Amino acid sequence: MTTVDTLTRRFSSGRQLSFRDVNGLIVADIDTPLASAALCLQGAHLMTWRPKAQAEPVVWLSKLAKLAPGKSIRGGIPVCWPWFGPHANDAKLPAHGFARTVPWELTEARVTGDGVVEVTLTLSGNEQTRVLWPHSARAELRLSIGATLRAGLTTVNEGDQAIVIGEALHTYFHIGDIGAVRVLGLEDCAYLDKVDGGSRKRQEGAISFVGETDRIYLDTTSECVIEDARLHRRIHVAKTGSRSTVVWTPWTEKADKMGDFGPDGWRGMVCVESANAGENVVTIKPGERHTLSVEYRTENQ
Ligand code: BG6
Repeated sequence: MTTVDTLTRRFSSGRQLSFRDVNGLIVADIDTPLASAALCLQGAHLMTWRPKAQAEPVVWLSKLAKLAPGKSIRGGIPVCWPWFGPHANDAKLPAHGFARTVPWELTEARVTGDGVVEVTLTLSGNEQTRVLWPHSARAELRLSIGATLRAGLTTVNEGDQAIVIGEALHTYFHIGDIGAVRVLGLEDCAYLDKVDGGSRKRQEGAISFVGETDRIYLDTTSECVIEDARLHRRIHVAKTGSRSTVVWTPWTEKADKMGDFGPDGWRGMVCVESANAGENVVTIKPGERHTLSVEYRTENQ
């Protein structure tokens, strides 16, 4: 059984990488000269990330985020897998798949000489997951946590039939105020507008926010930039192996209903999710693998 003690003996590197128990879940704390971060092993969920050159975090975590076995955490980088959004033909199955609410195994962890923390987490199919998704596949999340953050989500088809997956690194970004940011990089893209019954539209110019926004941009591999006039910085989101980008902010009413944003908490976040969703789901042949990778970096203005 994985415990704080076994992980500490195997992987700990003093203050730079340490482990603790929170409500029965294991959290890895990272604190190096380059960055601070916290990673929950349930869901392989990176909860926060702040490069030391930034006064404010880049990855947002709700002040009301709850850590509990089997529950998703509001904020950070939820791993949506092996489907994105509601399940295609069974509404009783969990939204965004099951990967974010089950334990992953920490299979590698090290601090490089430069102070970058590299970890690999693995989710192997088991009886619990096969009830929800009857396929033999393994997911691996590799994180490289430093002044830049890199995340790679690999799916390995270990069965003898092709599988189809939807997925996202559903990143919540910390921003000064939702009314003072623009998202660049999706100009002229086609998108499905989930606040307008999923109708198909085309993006004109940069995205700015004046109400609930929930869009799946399709057939786009572009880098996105979150331009934050309040925090005077730009966050770059560059990706490979991802053909969709989801942009989401709940706004007042939906955030109130969701109950774990806190008063006005939603104003300080925006999700720009690197995904394969909608018609961009991925087919993986037996024995083959697919990787979705994202690099996050900041630039002060
Ligand atoms: C986004 C979806 O990716 O995630 C939204 O496009 C959804 O429709 C949001 O509301 C949050 O989902 P959840 O399941 O974490 O509350």
